[in-house]
Amino acid sequence: MSELPAAVALLLRKGVAYLVERGVSEAEANAEFLMASVLGCGRGVVLASGSRELPWKSQRHYWELVKRRGRRVPLAYVLGTQPFAGLEFKVSPSVLIPRPETEELVERVLVLVRESFPGRGGPGRPPINIVELGTGSGCVAVALAKRLPDAVVCACEVSVPALRIAEENARLNGVERRIRFVHEDLFKTRNGSAPRWADVLVSNPPYVPTRELAGLEPEVRAEPVLALDGGRDGLDAIRAIAAEAPGTLRAGGWLVLEFGDGQADRVRGILRACGFADIDVKRDLQGRDRIVLGRLAK
Ligand SMILES: C[S@@+](CC[C@H](N)C(=O)[O-])C[C@H]1O[C@@H](n2cnc3c(N)ncnc32)[C@H](O)[C@@H]1O
Repeated sequence: MSELPAAVALLLRKGVAYLVERGVSEAEANAEFLMASVLGCGRGVVLASGSRELPWKSQRHYWELVKRRGRRVPLAYVLGTQPFAGLEFKVSPSVLIPRPETEELVERVLVLVRESFPGRGGPGRPPINIVELGTGSGCVAVALAKRLPDAVVCACEVSVPALRIAEENARLNGVERRIRFVHEDLFKTRNGSAPRWADVLVSNPPYVPTRELAGLEPEVRAEPVLALDGGRDGLDAIRAIAAEAPGTLRAGGWLVLEFGDGQADRVRGILRACGFADIDVKRDLQGRDRIVLGRLAK
């Protein structure tokens, strides 16, 4: 590599070829995002900067990022951030990278809060109480707190490094005063005598069957196994959450869960067996059943 300035367009072409060789999908978009991070601009500006000469130091930085991505480190980990629900989240290998399908989970909670609790929140009224289990980067808890100014959220997570990132994301998005982060294992039975106070319990739990983990793309295998591994049939966490939820939700409260492709019927059965009614399964943008809602009888 020469130490002379090189044009952005040439570096992009070389970066794309390098990533394609290493099996990275959407190599062009990846190279553009990496260059945007080096230039400190948006991806659109990169395309308009083709003839711009990049000094040697910036070239070296660009190649460090491209090489990391070539080792199949997820783009979000290389960049250190990921957009979700119109907000920006810090991410590290301690947390699952927020997914577009989980934005649908947030949207579902927003709709049911509007429809089911119209008299709640606002001056002089009790707030809407939301619990999130397995908060990871905090993307769900933070997006809900941002969109529901009258809600308070209790976000639980067993991974301490993940909790630290979630707390940081709450601060970055200005909602830290309405989210309480709790270090808790969802498989540990909670105290049944505690008051049932939550209006909504939401979770995107680990739901990949253990035997499928090894076959996932390298980028997904770079994510925390704790965030993916749902046990033998993928449903361990969902069973635990549904069994414990009636001890946390107040009568008429909602349980809202994301689950994996092909799990809809079993998830429906689990919620029914745990006393939930009005069970409804919703599809993601690809038309796959991915979200279940169930209401605790009044
Ligand atoms: C699929 S990730 C979801 C993360 C984030 N809520 C999101 O939607 O991007 C599942 C999260 O559950 C956490 N988790 C796994 N087992 C847990 C347990 N026993 N108790 C609490 N949290 C757990 C993982 O650490 C991970 O952060």
